[in-house]
Amino acid sequence: MTRGLFITLEGGEGSGKSTQAKRLQAALEVRGQTVTVTREPGGSPGAEAIRSLLVTGAADRWDGMTEALLLFAARRDHVERTIKPALDAGSIVICDRFTDSTMAYQGYGHDLGREPVEQLSAIVLGDFRPDLTLILDIPVEEGLKRAVSRGGDELRYEDMDVAFHHRLRDGFLDIAKRDPERCRVIDSVGTEEEVAARLQAVILPVIESFHG
Ligand code: TMP
Repeated sequence: MTRGLFITLEGGEGSGKSTQAKRLQAALEVRGQTVTVTREPGGSPGAEAIRSLLVTGAADRWDGMTEALLLFAARRDHVERTIKPALDAGSIVICDRFTDSTMAYQGYGHDLGREPVEQLSAIVLGDFRPDLTLILDIPVEEGLKRAVSRGGDELRYEDMDVAFHHRLRDGFLDIAKRDPERCRVIDSVGTEEEVAARLQAVILPVIESFHG
């Protein structure tokens, strides 16, 4: 059996990743693909338990390094127990956030820097990485408006100051610039349908060439 394809969706708060992951799953399943949608932090029982430590509580609950360690502990469990088995079974895996989020949030947002995140990734994941990464880009104020109107109890990161969210957006754009083979930036301003069409325009040819 051919190994599946590992696709990650990335972006700041309110960029629409979760909605778009579901739409993408539907569009690919209609075309006969087997699709697994998962998310980080989380995606396996152990990693979901770590998620609740990260997304609730006071904004200053953890420093950048502690967050990065928690995130990579969760990621290790998620990769070993959910992502690799799905890929080995031939599924397309769509993951809502992955290591680029740690680079953007902890590396750039919390000023941990690129190197510790690269080193942790090498220790924890070796050379395992996404085949394709779509970065959903939206102006900070618009994204935060969307995120706050969504509500819920996972608002720890939305509570960071606006400068943090600007570092995040610039961080994601820098990540894309450094790795243009893997990363594509998608304009996330517009209706859900418009953004879904932009994503599919990038992903469908990749999937066709992969299976072709
Ligand atoms: P979500 O809102 O996309 O579900 O993600 C939960 C929060 O976790 C979000 O505010 C971003 C944060 N996060 C990090 O700070 N670093 C990471 O590596 C990941 C995966 C998420």
